[in-house]
Amino acid sequence: MSYQFHLTKTQNSSLDKVDFNNIPFGKVFSDHMFMADYINGEWMNFEIKPVAPIPTHPGNMAWHYGQAIFEGMKATRDAEGQALLFRPELHAKRMNASARRMCMPELPEDLFLQAIHTLVDMEKAWIPAQIGSALYIRPFMYATDETIGVKASETFKFVIFVMPVGPYYSQPVNLLAQDTYVRAVVGGVGEAKTAGNYAASLLPATMARKEGYDQVMWLDGVYKKYIQEVGTMNIFFVIGDEVITPNLDGAILAGITRDCILTLLRDKGYKVVERPITIDEVVEADASGRLKEIFGTGTAAVVAPVAKLKYRDTIITLDPNNQKISTLAKDTINGMRNRTIEDKYGWIVPA
Ligand code: COI
Repeated sequence: MSYQFHLTKTQNSSLDKVDFNNIPFGKVFSDHMFMADYINGEWMNFEIKPVAPIPTHPGNMAWHYGQAIFEGMKATRDAEGQALLFRPELHAKRMNASARRMCMPELPEDLFLQAIHTLVDMEKAWIPAQIGSALYIRPFMYATDETIGVKASETFKFVIFVMPVGPYYSQPVNLLAQDTYVRAVVGGVGEAKTAGNYAASLLPATMARKEGYDQVMWLDGVYKKYIQEVGTMNIFFVIGDEVITPNLDGAILAGITRDCILTLLRDKGYKVVERPITIDEVVEADASGRLKEIFGTGTAAVVAPVAKLKYRDTIITLDPNNQKISTLAKDTINGMRNRTIEDKYGWIVPA
């Protein structure tokens, strides 16, 4: 099905004010955004218009009860200037999985995809050419009922806005394993890409930063020993000849980059395992010289090598210049995104 979008173009583009060689992540926005409303059980009012504040009533339920979900995806371009999207249909499915868990309406996948394609095509001049840079696409949905009282909202807004970005982490990252605060437990909302999961990371992440660490590495909420993910990405360990990432147990976000890395590394002949992994196993592997690499994966971070991991009194240091597998994974994803490396999986689609 094809949807009709009402289009209002900006009279005031800010494209020429952007320094594409120096783009801070998440602070520079393109000219237009897509918006839709969910009213009386139907998605309607599809429009693309200049990016502007959205007036909101103080009783807006998203502000009080947290029905707010989002996605993060990237558009890049190839040498001919063709705008490219990376696995957009998987983002549509994950957005709907988050919506179901948060008691929010699903979006027809074809509407989600048409909105992304149309907006990215309109904003393609905003896609940076530099390897590792991209147009970051942020689709999000939030409750709009104006009611105080805990119940599911009946109305919602769906918005997509886009921004040119450089790398999320420009340096190898330092992580602090967190065994006091927890992010999610099985049966909770850890699997959903919902705002509250990120809110939960802010206090521990701020504490970690005071100690000189970039992010928190979460442990499970019951035993406080099984590794889950990092505040901004999924996590992988190379121990001996195995590449290990925590299995998706319901408390961990099903990362799309995580899924790509699993496929890519398996295809390249690595032994890749999704299984529970404890922080003690990582500490022991390091002590016995079998821990080779740690890296995070995510849309924003792509593949981020870890230079240091602290757990209680143990500090593990790794040489970020000697992380063969994470470098291979990162270069392959970035190369596919610019079409300098063949995509045999059909992940890259023209915008
Ligand atoms: C992403 O990787 O797209 C996220 O949503 C995580 C956030 C750190 C930007």
